[in-house]
Amino acid sequence: MILRMLILLLGLKADLIFAAHGYLAYGDLRGHIEPCGCDPSTDLGGIKRLGGMIARERAVHPSLLLFDLGNNLPLASESNLKTPFLLSAQAVLAPDAILFNNLEMQRFDQLSLWLRQSAAMVPPYILSNLRDKPDFKKLVRPFVSGKGWVAFGYVYNESIRDVVLPLGPELLRQWRDKLLNHTSDFRVLLFSGSDVDLRQAIESKLFEVIISSNTAKPDRVLGSEERSQESRLLRSNLPPVYMVPLGGQGFLRGGNLQLEEVKPLSELFGTKTTVVQERRSDNWLKDPKLVTWLDPATSSPNSSMDQVYESYTKAAQVSFHETGAKRLQQLKETPFAGAQVCVSCHPDASRVYLNSKHAKAMATLQLKSKSEDPECVACHSLGATEPGGFVSLDKSPQFANVQCENCHGPRLAHSRDPRPGSGPDKSSANVCTSCHNGQHSPKFEFKSYWQRISHK
Ligand code: HEC
Ligand code: HEC
Ligand code: HEC
Ligand code: HEC
Repeated sequence: MILRMLILLLGLKADLIFAAHGYLAYGDLRGHIEPCGCDPSTDLGGIKRLGGMIARERAVHPSLLLFDLGNNLPLASESNLKTPFLLSAQAVLAPDAILFNNLEMQRFDQLSLWLRQSAAMVPPYILSNLRDKPDFKKLVRPFVSGKGWVAFGYVYNESIRDVVLPLGPELLRQWRDKLLNHTSDFRVLLFSGSDVDLRQAIESKLFEVIISSNTAKPDRVLGSEERSQESRLLRSNLPPVYMVPLGGQGFLRGGNLQLEEVKPLSELFGTKTTVVQERRSDNWLKDPKLVTWLDPATSSPNSSMDQVYESYTKAAQVSFHETGAKRLQQLKETPFAGAQVCVSCHPDASRVYLNSKHAKAMATLQLKSKSEDPECVACHSLGATEPGGFVSLDKSPQFANVQCENCHGPRLAHSRDPRPGSGPDKSSANVCTSCHNGQHSPKFEFKSYWQRISHK
């Protein structure tokens, strides 16, 4: 009996602490739904691992708060194929508050349309500096609160200044009024703005914790730099304000979750993991409790996201066949010849090529059931984004794989009338980095890579 009471008391105490002060934060997925697998060292994150890890953390700390810094949708320049799946993934993660960030703003019309059509739960989006905009108010709340906590959200950049108020005396006055009812609560600000704005938010002393969205340019190629140098995540020193990792590569642990002794999750859940620790170039922020990176090795057995993945892969296939039907017409007037045409006149170059991985790039995708995902096909075949290039394995097998003409430009005319210079030659380091970029080929270095396929 006494023992039970003690446990109850202890449980209550733990609950009080965690309810007020333990949180995890992630965000800035920027459309990154799953890791591509092009290189193990940038085989980072993906919503599936995030889901698995967060589910485990919740099992240990049932009352932790989960904050999402937004910027999760694809860039405006990209197709919106992924958006509904990112939304359904959000529904599984079920964060307590999501910052309605720049990418959500850019896709506002689509977003509200989808949410209306799918009757999906409207995620707990917050934006606390919205001007008087009735459309937005249907989707976005000024703040979100729960037992003993309240979260505000701030987003600002010049291009959205007719939608949102900048940080300044007027906004701070509005916030102070709203916060009057929450003085004893754990007060959190989810923030996306300039350093000057951040300073003002800090100096206002209205919030106990400020968590920043990632400041990387939206179009920056996702790499693993932050993992090798965690200090990049520190946005302000006094008091410390951290940014969430870019691309859903991991999450921040904050408040009491940070103070606690953290056991390896493998120990808690009995799943064997062999975490390959990356060497860190600086060690002043190496506290492993601050940020949890999602390695392939810590990939979880949690299957909550399986359905999201499967539906996305299917939708990608449908889209692939739709565009394929249109692209079929363009095959008739293709400027490409295909690698087998070159063999007779360029036997040496062809021998090197056929032994290289470029010649097997489509098989690589087939192994992963991704030969009909437009995103992957773009770099693993010839001319997939140009008229007359790869359509599908059925319709244009001659253009599967990375080929001579990915580097040497379309060469049909040249093969029929072979004169030197009778083709636009693009072959240089630049042509490589269109595919061998920081995310998909982080170890790329022209000299050593060229040596492996040299055929001059
Ligand atoms: C921007 C271009 C690009 C895109 C998009 C891309 N890849 Fe790749 N992929 C590469 C490059 C370049 C390599 C070779 C990396 C290296 O060895 O440095 C590669 C390698 C791979 C490998 C490893 C092959 C091996 O030999 O080990 C796999 C698997 C792979 N890609 C799958 C995918 C999948 C699946 C997708 C779509 C989700 C995808 N790729 C999208 C460029 C791309
Ligand atoms: C009918 C024979 C023939 C075919 C087919 C042919 N070539 Fe050539 N190619 C030549 C000749 C001849 C030259 C000039 C060689 C020289 O000047 O030393 C040449 C030169 C080149 C050059 C170097 C000069 C330049 O134009 O940039 C490249 C690169 C090249 N070919 C690529 C290709 C590719 C890729 C294919 C297949 C799509 C191809 N060729 C098909 C005969 C052919
Ligand atoms: C159209 C996209 C594309 C371009 C352009 C491209 N590559 Fe690749 N490269 C790939 C892909 C995809 C792979 C992985 C193929 C696989 O394993 O399935 C790859 C693999 C390689 C590999 C093999 C890596 C290994 O593990 O053995 C080398 C070497 C390489 N590329 C060098 C180059 C060089 C040098 C250039 C520029 C002159 C270049 N590539 C241009 C897409 C490209
Ligand atoms: C991954 C990119 C890539 C692929 C694939 C590739 N090449 Fe090349 N190729 C180059 C580069 C880079 C050079 C060197 C150009 C230079 O140094 O001026 C080159 C050189 C050549 C040359 C010599 C050009 C000269 O000016 O002497 C020929 C011919 C050639 N390639 C033909 C081919 C043929 C045929 C294929 C396919 C069977 C092929 N290449 C596949 C990138 C590629």
